[in-house]
Amino acid sequence: MTAYERIEVTPMTGALGAEISGLNLNDLDDETFDEIHRAWLEHLVVFFRDQDITPERHLELARRFGDIHLHPFMRGMDDHPEILEIVKEEDDTHTFGSVWHTDQMFNPKPAKATILYAKETPAAGGDTLFANMYLAYETLSDGMKAMLERLKTWNVGGSGAARAAHYRGTAKMAAKVKDPGEAQTETAHPMIRTHPETGRKALYISGHTKSLEGFEAAEAAPILAYLRAHAVQPEFTCRFRWAVGSMAIWDNRCTQHRALDDYAGQRRRMHRITIAGDTPH
Ligand code: SIN
Repeated sequence: MTAYERIEVTPMTGALGAEISGLNLNDLDDETFDEIHRAWLEHLVVFFRDQDITPERHLELARRFGDIHLHPFMRGMDDHPEILEIVKEEDDTHTFGSVWHTDQMFNPKPAKATILYAKETPAAGGDTLFANMYLAYETLSDGMKAMLERLKTWNVGGSGAARAAHYRGTAKMAAKVKDPGEAQTETAHPMIRTHPETGRKALYISGHTKSLEGFEAAEAAPILAYLRAHAVQPEFTCRFRWAVGSMAIWDNRCTQHRALDDYAGQRRRMHRITIAGDTPH
């Protein structure tokens, strides 16, 4: 791996995550983007600070990663439908994304990447946790790997009504729920997936994973409970503290993330764009 020449890359933990500095995302040439992309594949999630970008620039950056993925359940902003505004108001009791998950895993082609940009942040709290799912796979025993290699998971997004009920503690998010129409919101995926760009294997489970194909519910439950806990042990994670102007770009093919629900009484507002992915193999 050659060194970076146009950006500074500072790893965050032994597991994943790196802060990238020395650049303005409004002024990004192809060579600098190539280095960001390389750092992203190497560190799984990259973070930027003190960026002042418009929705148009946010979308331009996102399109460098691929086509924009429109969320099947959630309505985007009126003037920028590709951007989901995630808002938690002072009196909300639910935090969007506050269980470990990977984005849109209930879809046959889940989102490849997510770009989250902080517009308003609480004085303290509201951090996001990330977990390295390559490590989650690599640290399993050979016996467990061999068993999981053959398994398929069943991943569920729920109906529009179930989603609205789930978001009832956050009125602004509940109001964004839309009918998914023809979009598939329940899908089988391989338990172990191979990353199409790095060729590395990752454990592929998340909060959307509800059962195992061909297993009774009682048989699947302890296997999934074990893997869920194994995957997010502290040694496999990093935690990002947001400030206005911070941005995170994560790879949904090899990470999970979770928004922390620890800032009751304060407002947090983020702009999120997801990038279309392919069929997991
Ligand atoms: C998400 O799950 O996409 C949101 C994460 C966050 O708000 O920190």
